[in-house]
Amino acid sequence: MKNLAVLTSGGDAPGMNAAIRAVVRTGHARGISTWGVYQGYSGLIEGNFKRLGVRDVGSIIQRGGTMLGSARCPEFKTEEGVELAIRRLHGAGIDGLVVIGGNGSQTGANTLRKMGFPVVGVASTIDNDLYGSDITIGVDTALNVALNAIDNLKVTASSHCRALLVEVMGRNCGYLALMSGIAGGAEAIVLPEVEVVPEQVAQRIQEGYERGKPHAIVVVAEGAKYNAEGLCRYFEEHDLLRGYEFRSTVLGYVQRGAVPTCADRLLGTKLGSEAAEQIIAGNSGILIGVCKGELTSTPLDVVVTGHKPLDPWFMKAADMLAR
Ligand code: ADP
Ligand code: F6P
Repeated sequence: MKNLAVLTSGGDAPGMNAAIRAVVRTGHARGISTWGVYQGYSGLIEGNFKRLGVRDVGSIIQRGGTMLGSARCPEFKTEEGVELAIRRLHGAGIDGLVVIGGNGSQTGANTLRKMGFPVVGVASTIDNDLYGSDITIGVDTALNVALNAIDNLKVTASSHCRALLVEVMGRNCGYLALMSGIAGGAEAIVLPEVEVVPEQVAQRIQEGYERGKPHAIVVVAEGAKYNAEGLCRYFEEHDLLRGYEFRSTVLGYVQRGAVPTCADRLLGTKLGSEAAEQIIAGNSGILIGVCKGELTSTPLDVVVTGHKPLDPWFMKAADMLAR
């Protein structure tokens, strides 16, 4: 291998920059030229590449987002889009690609692999819904942002004797909601993975009120059957919450744009460097992740068809401990 490229795709995640830096500097240490592809698969299709030296990735490890930009690119889901991307790569003399991203991005990487182009994936998404890595780049930072918000909301909820419903990201996965809800001591957590019965959520909150709790925090995953606003509306229409006033807060993109935590910088560094080592060593069609604390390589075919369930221990604990 002579020329290795790297791109970031899908939702940006804090720690992506650490991964880009690690790919570039590992490549350099092995005598390989490294290239950045800008704006994810869109940049691949457009041939938006730039050679990256070790100094081009200086002072990015502490920044959120991705210096390469990211995109959702529907065109890459078409055969013509993938063929054009491969032509662009060959045209630039690039003979390997590291794809830093989540489920959709790794599905795209798998398409490149099937077309014979050497590719290695790096597990990165705040949603933590990617099979092949217990934890993905960006999760720790997003969780801490959500947790800070929950802590703040609990303070004002207590002052006003309110029930606050907090909606967190995660697409169809309840990981961020479950973990931030437990760490934030939420009274109830509403997940896509568990059937939601608004009457039961309301009853749980009401019981707390009757025991003299000055606040209730309900963490709602954005992918649950009812989002925070929907649940508030349901409570109102069915006159389910007496005592507390209630309000909803949607955290949204603040969870994605934060300064990466130490854990995310280290994870990005480890996965990015290992991805470069693997592809330079001639290994392709794999996702680099961490499972049980160890670096792992999982075939992309397995990654894109696999499903990572929520931790059953935390699921059980969430219900038992929220009182
Ligand atoms: P994430 O990687 O964070 O899950 P997306 O699901 O939006 O984010 O996927 C990112 C990009 O990956 C998409 O915009 C598209 O370019 C590419 N992608 C997603 N699914 C496929 C697919 N089935 N085939 C090829 N490319 C895909
Ligand atoms: O995949 C990361 C994520 O932030 C999800 O949690 C969220 O549902 C989605 O991206 C939002 O996507 P977009 O940036 O396209 O609005």
